[in-house]
Amino acid sequence: MSRKLIIAGNWKMHNTTAQARALITDLAPLVAGAASVDVVVCPTYTALATASDALQGTGIMLGAQDVFWKDKGAYTSRISPSMLLDLGVTYVVIGHSECRGRFGVPEPDFDEAVLAHFGDSDATVNRKLKAALAAGLKPIVCVGETLSERRQGEADAVVASQVRGALAGIDADAVPGLVLAYEPVWAIGTGEVCGSDEADRICGVARATVAELYGAEAAEAVRVQYGGSVKPDNAAELLGKPNIDGALVGGAALKAGDFAAIVNAGA
Ligand code: PGA
Repeated sequence: MSRKLIIAGNWKMHNTTAQARALITDLAPLVAGAASVDVVVCPTYTALATASDALQGTGIMLGAQDVFWKDKGAYTSRISPSMLLDLGVTYVVIGHSECRGRFGVPEPDFDEAVLAHFGDSDATVNRKLKAALAAGLKPIVCVGETLSERRQGEADAVVASQVRGALAGIDADAVPGLVLAYEPVWAIGTGEVCGSDEADRICGVARATVAELYGAEAAEAVRVQYGGSVKPDNAAELLGKPNIDGALVGGAALKAGDFAAIVNAGA
């Protein structure tokens, strides 16, 4: 089965509304020829409405960086699936390592008490995933090991267990439409890219876990992105691998030319 590549820019905590509009205005013509790739940008919540407006007619889809699992109620500061849909959001990133409190670049002033603020666990990822699917959002579910887990030989087990945790109780019908993102934490924002063969192998581990849970057909349909220091100069090699169906791009997504080069490497 051939899977359509999906390349998503995770803008993280960057860009005011004016900067978001300018970035989209610069980006849109540069990726206009990339119809063979699903292109997504994920601004921060405060820029979603502006981005939604700026994306009209471009073919680029809008994503959010997180979602809460309740639809409304006394949940101060949370954003619900229906609020995202209201702004024209199609995709939503769930379980990013930075939301799980797992940082590629160590944060010197984040002690344990502060890290608890970044509270996503497999259980909350699972709730967010269920709520996103029920609302009709398209989830991008992130998994990946830290450097110390890799050094202890646990990378495959961590990825498989995060996939299992995220998918617990998820209806089989929803699985083929899912996007998983394998993002080794040690490669995020560090400039350390995972070798393309190893990235492909672990994307295969994620896919094999889906196969164990839902069968070969579902696993063939699921798209698995690689993320972690994807740049214009390594994109073509990563995107050429059989188990890598796209990229989740952080730093390089903040420059229209770089993000467009990554998209066009896959087109
Ligand atoms: P990076 O981030 O491309 O800056 O390494 C990727 C991500 O965290 O999604």
